Amino acid sequence: MPVTVVIGSQWGDEGKGKIVDLLSREIDVVARYQGGANAGHTIMWGDKTFVLHLVPSGIFHDGVKCVIGNGVVIDPGALLDEIGMIKRLGYDVDDRLFISHNAHLIMPYHKKVEEARERARDAGAIGTTGRGIGPAYVDKFARTGIRVVDLLDRDVLRKKLKVAIEEKNAILKGVYGADQLNVDAITEEYVEFDKLIDPFVTDTSQYLGQLLKGGAHVLAEGAQGSLLDVDFGTYPFVTSSHPTVGGCCTGLGIPPTEIKRVIGIVKAYSTRVGNGPFPTELDGETGEELRSKGGEFGATTGRPRRCGWLDLVALRYTSMINGFTDLAITKLDVLTGTPQIKACTSYDVAGKRTERFPSEVQTLEKVEPIYESFEGWGEDITGVTSFDDLPDCARTYLSAVSDYLDVPISTISTGPKRNQTILNAAPATVG
Ligand code: IMP
Repeated sequence: MPVTVVIGSQWGDEGKGKIVDLLSREIDVVARYQGGANAGHTIMWGDKTFVLHLVPSGIFHDGVKCVIGNGVVIDPGALLDEIGMIKRLGYDVDDRLFISHNAHLIMPYHKKVEEARERARDAGAIGTTGRGIGPAYVDKFARTGIRVVDLLDRDVLRKKLKVAIEEKNAILKGVYGADQLNVDAITEEYVEFDKLIDPFVTDTSQYLGQLLKGGAHVLAEGAQGSLLDVDFGTYPFVTSSHPTVGGCCTGLGIPPTEIKRVIGIVKAYSTRVGNGPFPTELDGETGEELRSKGGEFGATTGRPRRCGWLDLVALRYTSMINGFTDLAITKLDVLTGTPQIKACTSYDVAGKRTERFPSEVQTLEKVEPIYESFEGWGEDITGVTSFDDLPDCARTYLSAVSDYLDVPISTISTGPKRNQTILNAAPATVG
């Protein structure tokens, strides 16, 4: 059986958690391939809401195994809190949760360095989630990171931490005038974490390889969104990993030839948290309305999300990078009652019209979006479960999106709950 990859097509917060949760019914393993506790996947059952930051949402499906791959940066404190919450909800994690021995750890100094750096950047700040993600990936690529496997040997751990902390202390004090960190206290703290996470640690690429050989169906879950990719996103206003499809191979050790389906998760409008260009952003009343109707506040930081119209130019670009085989449209119900809906179909760049997405920030900041308008619908679509039962105007909007991107829509979310979903929408929506 193949690998299916679920990828955010915009700036994150597209509603991947719900789609992964739905797909978990038919798969054997959910594997997370990048990012860290900067992500927040919100799941709603009945009147209950849960937020997962690290553990894939497949954990709430009996029999589904969950993997946190080598490409993820793990904050042990956040992970242990989450495991505790999952257990309290009555779900098993033993023999179901597997953590890569090669994953890098978020250390207290990563958060400190990030905080100091963001403060120093002032108006040029990235607007990060403050979870230490960027500095942890910096250490990974500088080859000074601490990996899960390093927890096994207290002496090795102490030695590595000593080198890392001395360097960080020099930076914190010399560059940012910030407080110093203590090697012994941090070593002790992480040795304690090791005792608790040790049962979950394994060589996850070998584990996944064996499962795939045995015919398992793996769902690879990306965090954040393609426009936050460190290479393909709006650099430097990006996260420090690869939410795009390549991240699945390097973050899990899965060969590209195993990937048979790449689902692009597309929110029916656009949002962005943090700083950086956002051509279709709506500053006025309509943006405010989308924010309040869509509950557009960060699941990790609680920050209000910036809201705007759908940007098809950007989506065609992320579809090209990822090779989406089908789309899952989320939060369509939030557009109900909006009299006129717009989607950006080209940009005006210094008087010239283009359909090319310029990921370089200098150009993107100056583009003027050119819109196509769609008549809105007033009927409540919450809970509609068939494409044919959607109002004509909603179908026209969705068909235009599918046509522009030349990708079929397989799934449409019409409300936050599991059963508020249109499945197998594809035949009716391909233009
Ligand atoms: P970092 O990932 O914390 O370094 O933040 C870098 C940028 O990515 C900031 O603009 C964050 O707001 C954004 N970001 C990180 N994680 C998410 C997410 O899960 N959803 C949306 N934006 C995110």
